[in-house]
Amino acid sequence: MTCLKDKVLLITGAGRGIGRACALRAAEEGADVIITDIGNSIESVPYKLSSSEQLEMTAQICKERGASVLMQLADVCNSNDVDALIEAAINRFGRIDAIVNNAGIGAPAGKATHLYTSEEWEILLNVNLSGPWRLIKAVAPIMIEQQYGSIINIASTAGLLGYKHFAGYVASKHGLVGLTKSAALDYAQKNIRVNAICPGPVYDDELLDGNMTKVVADSLGIQLGDQESIDLESVALNTVVSPHDVADAMVWLASDASQRVTGTTITVDAGYSAK
Ligand SMILES: NC(=O)c1ccc[n+]([C@@H]2O[C@H](COP(=O)([O-])OP(=O)(O)OC[C@H]3O[C@@H](n4cnc5c(N)ncnc54)[C@H](O)[C@@H]3O)[C@@H](O)[C@H]2O)c1
Repeated sequence: MTCLKDKVLLITGAGRGIGRACALRAAEEGADVIITDIGNSIESVPYKLSSSEQLEMTAQICKERGASVLMQLADVCNSNDVDALIEAAINRFGRIDAIVNNAGIGAPAGKATHLYTSEEWEILLNVNLSGPWRLIKAVAPIMIEQQYGSIINIASTAGLLGYKHFAGYVASKHGLVGLTKSAALDYAQKNIRVNAICPGPVYDDELLDGNMTKVVADSLGIQLGDQESIDLESVALNTVVSPHDVADAMVWLASDASQRVTGTTITVDAGYSAK
């Protein structure tokens, strides 16, 4: 399939998990890709973020699938990194048709709202909400000039519902859904669409180096197997979501097949939020 032929997509958090799945699907659909990740860990985040080797692995598979690839490390909390990334992307490809704001952190979490430290609270909002805003700030002038663009924010069912002991994450993702709607209104006259995808529980696909279910289990102090059982019981369909399901929704939002869709959220949650 080639529904993204001749398009240039930028994907953050592409070192593993959903971001890697999005990069691979974009390459399969004929796009050229700019893939980025932090390549380092953050002190106040209680688990390892992607290494540069993981991002290189994503780049290698995208190339095998026929894409031209620009790979650059960038921390979405750092405006200089983000600006340099967009500049490098334009120098290489001359345009950016779509960005996928996927980089995110699932923890610190696992405690009542008042027990978060200021540092824990701030890092969740900084990565998950201000990160996508920094990308939009840097890419909007280019998309306005092009009079074309699709911005896809990877939010969560946590952007629509509450989760006990995940207030920081939930607040950041609700914020991201709000940012999506307002930005959609800001840029609609410029033919720039802004949408969000809200995945429910996603299973950890080993081939994608995914580990978010484990992060959630660790935050709640339970075994991975128990978390997987809880996730399975919480969805209406007999299976939790795959990162590839999220990537499929991303492809549609990045393609012209969704040209009259903006300001919305697509929930990909195996029926989790239908209850
Ligand atoms: N896995 C799930 O169950 C699930 C469900 C709903 C939403 N999501 C969202 O999907 C997105 C991807 O999650 P995932 O499950 O693939 O997790 P993941 O940890 O495997 O991937 C997240 C990626 O973001 C990168 N990242 C984190 N902070 C960064 C920063 N400051 N700068 C640049 N990159 C940074 C990480 O290095 C990592 O590669 C996240 O936004 C997450 O909140 C995940």
